[in-house]
Amino acid sequence: MTNVHAPMQASKLDNYNSQRGATAYKSDYGKKLHRKLSDKRERALLCRYFAEIGRVDTILDMPCGHGRLSGLLHGHCRKLIEADWSFTMVDLNRKDHGEQDRAYFRASALEIPLQDRAVDVVVSFRLSHHLETQDLREQHLRELFRVAGKAVIVTWFSATSLKNVLRQVRVRLTGKKPKNVLRNDRVRAIAAAAGFQHLRSKPLFLIGSGHVLGMFVRRD
Ligand SMILES: C[S@@+](CC[C@H](N)C(=O)[O-])C[C@H]1O[C@@H](n2cnc3c(N)ncnc32)[C@H](O)[C@@H]1O
Repeated sequence: MTNVHAPMQASKLDNYNSQRGATAYKSDYGKKLHRKLSDKRERALLCRYFAEIGRVDTILDMPCGHGRLSGLLHGHCRKLIEADWSFTMVDLNRKDHGEQDRAYFRASALEIPLQDRAVDVVVSFRLSHHLETQDLREQHLRELFRVAGKAVIVTWFSATSLKNVLRQVRVRLTGKKPKNVLRNDRVRAIAAAAGFQHLRSKPLFLIGSGHVLGMFVRRD
């Protein structure tokens, strides 16, 4: 069962909404090696991408979670907007990072309550692979492109990654649940239809992860 506004598997969503789950997600990044490694790589790629985009006026980070990337993103803009479906995550984030040059709100990334091109850059990390259907994953992308005036930096789980190819074998042999993936060419097509050009995409890791970090810039 899923929530219509935040259609992540209900148990996962309940976890992010709970104090225990939100705090555990935050502390995982300080303790678990694979989390530390992926955090380091994501930060390195984000810095590389922002070196090309330059400093901007506004960034929307959605979903922001507990604000893992808040400090880094804040260094690249005048105002950082932090948004998430979980009230608990938004509260935790606000307590840790304060109000100076930052705004916070609770909303779904599938229906972002902002006008077209309301912010310069939209960053959306680690949500796509939680969305249960292809339609929802595509809707999420279209919302990011709608709201961004200059650029979108987004992660998705690549259908052609080694991790997904191996998972597909297990799906066939053992009936394991398939990953929530997107084809890279489909992401580029959705970007192009929204007026964006694909500038870069890099895998988080070639082995052991199927996540891709893509950067798209508005053409006009
Ligand atoms: C894996 S965490 C990623 C958080 C942050 N982007 C990061 O990389 O640390 C996923 C987040 O998505 C939020 N979420 C789930 N469904 C959402 C939706 N439809 N709209 C906005 N946020 C959502 C959860 O509350 C959770 O904070």
